[in-house]
Amino acid sequence: MTKNLLELHQISKSYEEELILEEISLSVQPGTAIAITGNSGGGKTTLLSIMGLLQKPTSGQITMNGLEASSLDQKKQAKIRGESIGFVFQRARLISSLTIQENVLLPAWFVRKEKEIVERAQQLLSYFELEHRLNHKPQQLSLGQLRRVALARALLLQPPLLLADEPTNDLDPALADIVAGALLQARNQGTGVIIVTHDPALAQKADHHFRLEQGNLIQVK
Ligand SMILES: Nc1ncnc2c1ncn2[C@@H]1O[C@H](COP(=O)(O)OP(=O)(O)OP(=O)(O)O)[C@@H](O)[C@H]1O
Ligand SMILES: [Mg+2]
Repeated sequence: MTKNLLELHQISKSYEEELILEEISLSVQPGTAIAITGNSGGGKTTLLSIMGLLQKPTSGQITMNGLEASSLDQKKQAKIRGESIGFVFQRARLISSLTIQENVLLPAWFVRKEKEIVERAQQLLSYFELEHRLNHKPQQLSLGQLRRVALARALLLQPPLLLADEPTNDLDPALADIVAGALLQARNQGTGVIIVTHDPALAQKADHHFRLEQGNLIQVK
């Protein structure tokens, strides 16, 4: 039996007294894309950050490749994040003192820094139509450009799990298609892709689609 890449077992999350996520269970297989839609404030970003081991659930477990990850200490969780998870945050978190190319290369800092990885960073940036911005700083880029830089960074090391929070926001339709294509293409190398989106067309292109409604995940597709 193949192990699921990621499993959520009855994940609940409350902020103070307010229940945001209620006993959510979900399995993610390698090479599949799951779209999650839902109202603003419904808990999609919260769910993604719990999947990415950035935040602890109030209750429930997370397993990654069969390993119980939710109860590991912070150092072990950070190792899993660095090695196995690519993030595209809703607010692109780039380092303002580094150039665009250096920001994209950041995940490779502790892993490897050969010529090949620099070339891959440049290829990704030109795929996202940013080849003329390699040596700019993040504060010199538009929101849509920053979002594509964050995506290039997340794709750099071909992580087994890719978590993308509204990745096509701030993009014109042509670029939104390019970004959606890159996310879905990551499946071909076995990456499990979770895409939070308000875009119904993108949700439709994923293998599965869930709506987060009043703390529950409801399968649409
Ligand atoms: N650190 C926090 N402390 C307290 N409440 C929080 C915290 N983070 C989020 N919330 C609340 O949890 C709810 C869910 O927030 P979340 O960011 O997960 O929503 P979302 O579905 O991603 O919304 P959007 O579509 O607007 O991005 C919101 O009501 C928010 O105010
Ligand atoms: Mg959000």
